[in-house]
Amino acid sequence: YPLKNHNTFGISAFAKEFVQVHTEEELAEVLKENSGKKLFILGGGSNMLLTQDIDALVIHIDIKGKQVTWQDDDKAHVQAMAGENWHEFVLYCIDNGFGGLENLSLIPGNVGTTPIQNIGAYGTEIKDTFVSCRAMDIATQQIRTFTQKECEFGYRESIFKGALKDKYIITSVTFRLTKTNHKINTSYGDIAAELTKNGVTIPTIKDVSNAVTAIRQSKLPDPKELGNSGSFFKNPIITAEEFEKVYILHPQMPHYTVSDTEVKVPAGWLIEQSGFKGKRFGDAGIHARQALVLVNYGNATGKELLDLSKKIQETVYDNFGIRIEAEVNII
Ligand code: EPU
Repeated sequence: YPLKNHNTFGISAFAKEFVQVHTEEELAEVLKENSGKKLFILGGGSNMLLTQDIDALVIHIDIKGKQVTWQDDDKAHVQAMAGENWHEFVLYCIDNGFGGLENLSLIPGNVGTTPIQNIGAYGTEIKDTFVSCRAMDIATQQIRTFTQKECEFGYRESIFKGALKDKYIITSVTFRLTKTNHKINTSYGDIAAELTKNGVTIPTIKDVSNAVTAIRQSKLPDPKELGNSGSFFKNPIITAEEFEKVYILHPQMPHYTVSDTEVKVPAGWLIEQSGFKGKRFGDAGIHARQALVLVNYGNATGKELLDLSKKIQETVYDNFGIRIEAEVNII
């Protein structure tokens, strides 16, 4: 079964078997019928690099639906099923006057995968509004509800990437959103400038969403036009001592204090300074407007992109002594 249209990198690879599920019941049935078989759970395919065919049963989670599960005058709990497209869900929330997700506009992928790596952008992470998610135990088909605390969220991290990796399939996520007194967050980078450019002085959640969408469109390639998986690498977090050593040599290096002992450095800057921005090697390349994004110009293989990513990692390490780690899942 061809997977080219099921991964935003647009890599040509094949699955041994493929099945789509539309309800929790269907998912439970498929899991029960195929117990013992090698499984591969597929959502929006926006955070993976396929370097080979998948010798497993691919289960595509296509469970749809969204609803308000609770509300009072100020807040609403809004639940979306795992197969909902993330950006469409964000727009649905904004159109209904629910605030909290606007800074996460235009992130590719589906709702069900957002908690796995605690997606984040423009000063907001999923964990800030996350209430709970439902997830099915692959072995027993029991549904379990995970609270925010139980998910153990960190920077692009959660328990679903850690202790419970490959144990559960998320089927829906519930967010706590504002109906009044929206917490408008324009502190990150270019948002304020973008709003000013649009003549907005008191931004609504819709204005913020529009600004974030415009900024993303100006920097990040649209997967429909140019295959990519968003940030390929995580921004490395290094110790304050390590940082001091590099900073003396590179005082222009942008950085963010994480804690008294840790500093985060933008990998995009390290990669750009290493000369990779906009470079192309066959059909594999580094995006010209955001060096953190690797792109497939058409027929790059997963292996070619993986090799390029390794070359980038080595060069950045040689230049700065800093190790950058992949953010996408390498399959
Ligand atoms: N920078 C460069 N060159 C580049 C890219 C960035 O010098 O080619 C510098 C910028 O000038 C800026 C700093 O790096 O000083 C940060 O850049 P930017 O604001 O573009 O954000 P980022 O750290 O590169 C992160 C997320 C993105 C998210 C943006 C905005 C990670 C791994 N990436 O990128 O997330 O959209 O912030 O919040 O944390 C994703 O995960 O797929 C993703 C796109």
